[in-house]
Amino acid sequence: MRLLLAISLLVTGTLAVVSDHQFEMLAKKVEDLTRQLMLTELSIGERARADADSGIKQIRTTNDGTKSYFTQTHSYNSVCSIHEHSNYDRTVGMGEFIATMNGVEFRTRHNDYKLRMPSKTSKNYNQQDDIPFPPVPPSVLAKRNLQEQVHEMQNYFRAFAFQNHNFRDYRPYFKPVLCYLEGTWTTSTKSIDEPFQSDRHSIDAESWFDLQEKIRFTSYTGGKHYLENFSYLPTTIMNMINGTPEYAQWNYRISCHPLSFDLPLSAIKPVDDMAGRIAHKMNLTRYAHTRSARFTLARRFGRENHFQWEDGFGNFKDSAYHNGLLDKIMNEIPGKDNYGAVLHDNTFGMDTLDPRKVNATLLNTAYYHRRFKHDKKGAMGIRDVHRGFSDSNLFVAQTSNPKVAPMKIHYCAKNEHTHHKECKTEAVRYTYAIPLELIYLTPLFSWNPHNLKYVDRRDRKGQQAIIEGGKRNGGTTVDKAYNGTSFKLFYKTPVEFFHGTNVDKDKADTDRGAVGVLDRHGALKKVVSSGQRITLPDIPGVGKLRLRYPIMPLTREGNQVGKELDAVKDVLNHLKNFGGYLDQKPSALAGSALTQADSHFRTSVTNQDPPGHHFHELYIDYDDMQDLAKGLTVTVGTTTDNSHSHQLEISYDANTHTYKIHKCDGKATCWDGHSAVLYSMD
Ligand SMILES: *[C@@H]1O[C@H](CO)[C@@H](O)[C@H](O)[C@H]1NC(C)=O
Ligand SMILES: *[C@@H]1O[C@H](CO)[C@@H](O)[C@H](O)[C@H]1NC(C)=O
Ligand SMILES: *[C@@H]1O[C@H](CO)[C@@H](O)[C@H](O)[C@H]1NC(C)=O
Ligand SMILES: *[C@@H]1O[C@H](CO)[C@@H](O)[C@H](O)[C@H]1NC(C)=O
Repeated sequence: MRLLLAISLLVTGTLAVVSDHQFEMLAKKVEDLTRQLMLTELSIGERARADADSGIKQIRTTNDGTKSYFTQTHSYNSVCSIHEHSNYDRTVGMGEFIATMNGVEFRTRHNDYKLRMPSKTSKNYNQQDDIPFPPVPPSVLAKRNLQEQVHEMQNYFRAFAFQNHNFRDYRPYFKPVLCYLEGTWTTSTKSIDEPFQSDRHSIDAESWFDLQEKIRFTSYTGGKHYLENFSYLPTTIMNMINGTPEYAQWNYRISCHPLSFDLPLSAIKPVDDMAGRIAHKMNLTRYAHTRSARFTLARRFGRENHFQWEDGFGNFKDSAYHNGLLDKIMNEIPGKDNYGAVLHDNTFGMDTLDPRKVNATLLNTAYYHRRFKHDKKGAMGIRDVHRGFSDSNLFVAQTSNPKVAPMKIHYCAKNEHTHHKECKTEAVRYTYAIPLELIYLTPLFSWNPHNLKYVDRRDRKGQQAIIEGGKRNGGTTVDKAYNGTSFKLFYKTPVEFFHGTNVDKDKADTDRGAVGVLDRHGALKKVVSSGQRITLPDIPGVGKLRLRYPIMPLTREGNQVGKELDAVKDVLNHLKNFGGYLDQKPSALAGSALTQADSHFRTSVTNQDPPGHHFHELYIDYDDMQDLAKGLTVTVGTTTDNSHSHQLEISYDANTHTYKIHKCDGKATCWDGHSAVLYSMD
């Protein structure tokens, strides 16, 4: 601070006339101004905390429309821009979004996080372990041939789909994982530390300063870096120590936690996001089967949760609660001290107690929680407290890691033993988290019935050998098939596992996104990707199984408008039960949906690299479908996958009853190799 002042005074050439006294005074003024800056930030933060809960605010806009709901909110074609990269072993596709945590608003890079969890053995900052994949059921491995293995594996998927563990006990092989967003103020204010690994994206900047400049530039122009590698992460002044400001840098990561118990699908039900739903003219059931849907957790396990096997999710009564199922899950997740940490918070001389225990028990604050009990001995007795003044999603965990910026407090209290007033400065470090999604891991990650070779990710030469330096691209011939599999060519599920929609065998394989891989004897095997999907393709006897259940909260749920709107939506959605609460009842209701739902399609899977294994989804509205039937073409945009989307001109072939890409981005074919065929997802 002194040096800075001296320099600025030097520059203005007035150093000679500045006396010691004036210097002290100036230093004091700068300190006062810095203090005022901190208070301004506090005021902005308090405003944000009062206006919104911790949650997701917005995803990137790609559409415009005649109504506001034709543009993106936290969802539109996909909630939080979730998508698939199932050709990677443990990559979970998730795009960019804006989130608020405890009043701090920030924007992520393209996330594409991995199925990893905090370390079980190390306390190191952001140290993670791979989440183990569930094993293959022994009864599948015991089968003698491929056909029988496929059939037995399908039985396990059927048991899971019907949540019937008497038919096959699927529970050791279908493992729920909660992936969460964690944010905090860090002490790393110079060089960027990438807080979580992605096989596909990392922050493209040299330093925080460089990143801030790039973000300032794209904000000014409204532009975008085409690789989606920038994030907006604020900086703050955390403390003032003897006139020197202590800066802190906001950072976030996405990590996952394997639940210690089975989470029945009956405890999950869809939430109505009407804007997204009306934009596609879908009823809630249908919407719940798309990437756009969000879900909520029941307050607890129990018979009151009914599983609707036809829908694949549960139904339960809505109610208020203290310490629900979500709290139970979040309580299993540690903060930055990783698994096994034990910390207690007794700032202000008060014990922070476990709200679940009847008798006073110290709360382990190293794990995420949003409630606690306070006990100031001899004072008002035990009090139950929710974290945050009005934030229902403020899950916090304490940490001892010096990389997390501490918040300091100076306070005085009477010592209980000596009865003298004692003053001290204490510092605590906290991180914040919100749930993002529940993911069910299946035995498909481990199942390799063709015994295909897997090349370790560190073996660079081996990686090249799989594609023979580019000659092999996964085509379904012996010369084009991959010679082995790897973390990013994670293809080992036999194509026969899924239902083929086409009678023509070759076409059916393409429909399923099959690639060719040579086995250890050089024989060609047709397989599909085995990584994490949102919804699995049709399995015979099972149907389409959803595996990712987004449960992220929204910021707007935390203010009066949001809450009022949710109540009104409930009345309108449930007129039979809630209609009586309307001041004047509607006389007649044209209850049935008069408008038809959009039709839902996907493109073929392409394996061309760049841009890498992917497909897109698209919606065509009912009137456009009528036009197509008349022989006209219509133009629609696709979802964004692998950082790009297409504008498709679509036509209908009345002879083959198929929908075709007539023009892709104005060209005869798509640049990245999608075939002309469109597949219905309805
Ligand atoms: C940015 O993301 C792309 C993927 O879209 C990746 O290939 C690239 O390495 C990233 N660049 C940097 C500098 O992180
Ligand atoms: C929802 O819509 C689909 C078609 O879009 C229809 O098949 C289904 O019966 C509808 N469900 C309800 C509960 O109305
Ligand atoms: C709570 O404390 C009382 C009295 O000390 C004891 O009798 C009781 O068993 C305790 N309850 C629990 C759940 O530990
Ligand atoms: C495939 O790779 C193996 C080594 O893993 C090699 O022995 C074999 O010759 C390769 N096959 C072909 C057809 O290139």
